[in-house]
Amino acid sequence: TNRTFTMIKPHAVADNHIGGITAMIEAAGFRIVAMKKTQLSAAQAGKFYEVHKERPFYGELCEMMSSGPIVPMILEKENAVADFRALIGATNPANAEEGTIRKKYAKSMGENAIHGSDSDENAAIEGSFFFGAIEQY
Ligand code: GTP
Ligand code: MG
Repeated sequence: TNRTFTMIKPHAVADNHIGGITAMIEAAGFRIVAMKKTQLSAAQAGKFYEVHKERPFYGELCEMMSSGPIVPMILEKENAVADFRALIGATNPANAEEGTIRKKYAKSMGENAIHGSDSDENAAIEGSFFFGAIEQY
């Protein structure tokens, strides 16, 4: 078993989709190890997305991710990172496959409902950005 990190983005939290999204996550066989509702400042979003700082959409991304509460989670499953990327679907919801979280809940490239870590290393870094050891069960 291993772990990945995810967060439900502000528009999906604002639209009351925490329950719908966590239901899809659990139905796909992931165990929720840690979860909370919190809000990032623009500076904290900038630090979380530092790898994207040269991309043209970085400013927009940080503004959007700090615009309201988010729900970060650490998830556990065999092959967690790859299986979770498959469950969330393509970054651009126009390309997201049927049955994926983004197909159901994403509105656009920016408002694409959910984040998923892209490697085991980043999953550990991103998880520890939000959660300490005594929050992970
Ligand atoms: P995450 O799971 O959120 O990391 O998405 P991803 O891995 O599918 O995409 P990537 O890491 O390349 O980009 C991070 C986030 O930046 C995406 O989820 C999008 O919300 C946003 N993003 C990516 N490309 C664009 C773009 O062209 N325009 C805008 N506005 N946002 C973008
Ligand atoms: Mg990414």
